[in-house]
Amino acid sequence: MKGNVLVVDDDRDSAEVLCDLLISRQNDAVAVDRGDTALQRLDEGDFDVVITDVRMEGMSGIEVCQKVRASHPDVPVMVITGQADVETAVAALRAGAWDFVTKPLNADHVMAAVARAVDHRRTRSEVRRLRQALAATRPIKEIIGDSPSIRAVTELVGRIADGDATVLITGESGTGKELVAQAVHSLGPRKDEPFVAVNCGAVPANLLESELFGHVKGAFTDARRDRPGLFIQAGRGTVFLDEIGEMPLDMQVKLLRVLQQRSLRPVGGDEEMPFYARVVCATNRDLESEVDEGRFRQDLFYRVNVVTIEVPPLRSRGSDILLLAHHFLKRISERTGKAVTSISPDASRKLLDYDWPGNVRELENGIERAVALARMSEIQVDDLPAKIREHHSTRLVIEGDDPSELVTMSEMERRYVRRVLDACGGNKTQAAKVLGIDRRSLYRRLEERSRD
Ligand SMILES: Nc1ncnc2c1ncn2[C@@H]1O[C@H](COP(=O)(O)OP(=O)(O)OP(=O)(O)O)[C@@H](O)[C@H]1O
Ligand SMILES: [Mg+2]
Repeated sequence: MKGNVLVVDDDRDSAEVLCDLLISRQNDAVAVDRGDTALQRLDEGDFDVVITDVRMEGMSGIEVCQKVRASHPDVPVMVITGQADVETAVAALRAGAWDFVTKPLNADHVMAAVARAVDHRRTRSEVRRLRQALAATRPIKEIIGDSPSIRAVTELVGRIADGDATVLITGESGTGKELVAQAVHSLGPRKDEPFVAVNCGAVPANLLESELFGHVKGAFTDARRDRPGLFIQAGRGTVFLDEIGEMPLDMQVKLLRVLQQRSLRPVGGDEEMPFYARVVCATNRDLESEVDEGRFRQDLFYRVNVVTIEVPPLRSRGSDILLLAHHFLKRISERTGKAVTSISPDASRKLLDYDWPGNVRELENGIERAVALARMSEIQVDDLPAKIREHHSTRLVIEGDDPSELVTMSEMERRYVRRVLDACGGNKTQAAKVLGIDRRSLYRRLEERSRD
């Protein structure tokens, strides 16, 4: 199989010999005499294989391996070593070399190795192409919502998607932080590269470092081979560090260093390697108070908090609740084949009044359950989970100007009475005083409230 080969060697004569050999066997070949030039050429042209000498002025062949592996993980690198130089060969393989050839070069051996490498590279590219084609048929998950607070989020995502700045996404559980992280990835130039997510709270503390930064063979008992970490696997895509607030303090120190230097060292390794992925973090904790309480490093907080996206809780998004409910309704009934197409006005009212501690995820689950229970094509109050059905709203401020959201005077009064009573710790005398009514009127209002 003929390929396009990049030869890296500071000895012009041997580079020329190798190029002539490759070209005589129907390959294309280009020679450069420095590692950094090679990396530039890789960025510009479509090479199938890199063949590099080891000892060179500036960047060594081993470094070339590491850098190519990080920046162009599809392109195999072959290293030219001296015949008896086993150590270099091993170092090269550790650094991610695909193969090595020994000097003096044997034309047939070299050509067979090149053919294997070209084949390997074409297969990988094909897999990648198919994966991308598949991704393209899967539409980017849309962020549903029309409220000012969610529009502010999507507008901000649009503005920062093109850049490289580290992003911190905050918000209560279930508000859509991961969805926002995916939007940052898929609206920018990294969209065809991997989006790699890791939940920092779910990976055992002792494995997190190797998960993120990889390890070399022998770094610990189970490390039977080199394994690149997620930062490298993400290539030029995005690493999503979910629940970063759960990261142990010693890991925070290491992450800070990696983010500052834009390079990392696999566990047990002694070579630094650069990484090219964008880092997006999310947390449902209040990181500033975590900093105050010494659970999160302040320097790391500043480092990840370059751009912050605050995803608002669902209860402050007004009639987005109904937009989302209908969105999920459509999706779920399509998936289950059950023709439930609408939500009754009373059930809609209940959805709007509820305070959604579990946010969008709770709404999605609620609708899923309601579809399963629905006896008609319309969801009724009875189909909703008890928590939602029986909830008495205490919302005093209603955002948005959708008439279906607005409530009567007596409903507002009822909510206010309840809020004041709560604030007074249930003390009715005190509550009556705050409300400026006598105790008897307060009792009467409370009875009215309990009648429905
Ligand atoms: N605005 C939205 N439009 C459409 N779907 C949404 C929206 N927000 C959230 N979702 C959906 O709700 C579910 C929960 O969202 P997601 O997992 O992104 O939340 P999260 O903030 O990461 O939650 P957690 O803190 O629990 O990890 C997902 O299925 C997501 O697709
Ligand atoms: Mg999440």
